[in-house]
Amino acid sequence: MGRTKTLPQQGVEQVKLAVFSCSNYPAGYFNAYQLAAQSDDWDAVLHLGDYIYEYGTGGYATERAAKIGRALPEDSDGELYSLTDYRKRYALYRTDTGLQALHATAPFIAVWDDHEISNDTWKAGAQNHGEDEGDFFARRAAAVQAYYEWLPIRPPMGEHNPQIYRSFHFGDLLDLHMLDTRVIGRDRQLDFKSYLDSDGGFDGRAFGAALADPNRTLLGQPQLQWLQETLAASTGHWQLLGQQVLMGKMLLPVEMMTGFYRGGSPDLTAELIGLKAASLQGKPISDSQRARIEQVVPYNLDAWDGYAVEREAVYEQVKGLGKNLVVVAGDTHNAWYSQLKDAKGDMVGVEFATPSVTSPGMETYLKMDEAAAAEMAAGMPVLVDELQYCNLHQRGYMALTFHRDGVQAEWKYVDNIDSAEFVEVARHSVTHQLA
Ligand SMILES: [Fe+2]
Repeated sequence: MGRTKTLPQQGVEQVKLAVFSCSNYPAGYFNAYQLAAQSDDWDAVLHLGDYIYEYGTGGYATERAAKIGRALPEDSDGELYSLTDYRKRYALYRTDTGLQALHATAPFIAVWDDHEISNDTWKAGAQNHGEDEGDFFARRAAAVQAYYEWLPIRPPMGEHNPQIYRSFHFGDLLDLHMLDTRVIGRDRQLDFKSYLDSDGGFDGRAFGAALADPNRTLLGQPQLQWLQETLAASTGHWQLLGQQVLMGKMLLPVEMMTGFYRGGSPDLTAELIGLKAASLQGKPISDSQRARIEQVVPYNLDAWDGYAVEREAVYEQVKGLGKNLVVVAGDTHNAWYSQLKDAKGDMVGVEFATPSVTSPGMETYLKMDEAAAAEMAAGMPVLVDELQYCNLHQRGYMALTFHRDGVQAEWKYVDNIDSAEFVEVARHSVTHQLA
């Protein structure tokens, strides 16, 4: 038994949403879902994808599974390919009591990201789909069918069509547009490594030219056109984009990026943060030091940063229409708050990104302990111009509360995912007030 809620038509003074992404069963217990289920006043839960992961035992983030009692069971311990495989994985995930509790508490509005199909999916393939793994589109069709069977979604174009972009209206306060940045339109991701030579050089000219290609698309032309027409016709006080990948610019110094691909170094990051801070404070730094912090490249080419021309088109339209834009994102496993700025530097909206429910984040990629991750998180907004806040090591979810004069984002973190026993351990809140 559970409770749901219909969309309100009028007299809406507040909309409260719980936002999630990246729930990975073998990585831990879904305590973030359980925590949100303790509140009973959600208008809806937004799930931004990676509701399941496709890997088998031995795959990504399964290392601790046996130790914490989250091993994949025998009937679902391989990588997912067939309809039966995907169905069994959803059935397994639904045994988690936190997920059960949240589904019973509030209606879900969901979109998929890549792992509902396979890692780094694009419109005709995926990073985790090799030539020896069968027909990609057959696999995708199986994944899509299982998704439609298990998630509360009415596919707008029918159950055999993978088109899921659609809008929801919360009275005249909020229009929510759920997007698919993953499956139907996305051109293949650029690969930073292919612009590095063997002795550490970076071909910035070729990389820049590839990035500036006006034909590269994330949404695909039909979805982009739908979004532009929908935004133009929308009358809601707020326009909210519910989607998968970060839209804000996450531009990092080139040497930090080449460092990442050669093993990473928190010390280098700290050094660059120090230089940027000195520069912002007007302290003297040398030309070569300035070059180190001003030569920047996108951190993640799987995000909107890899499709910058299309992002700018969305920004220009929002700015021209004078809409109050809020974007939510998942995918990174960490929490982020950015001010979205167009190429001229004008602010066109804000982005709030939710941490993962269980998937490991930056702390794991960079092998940082809690103190080092907290220190890096404190410095990142200095280094990254649009970034205002981030959390690089804690799991949880994000509550969004819309009022007419502002929107509040509150990140809520749990103390552990190693057992179903947990407490809320930290919160961070920001309010974006309309002028
Ligand atoms: Fe994920």
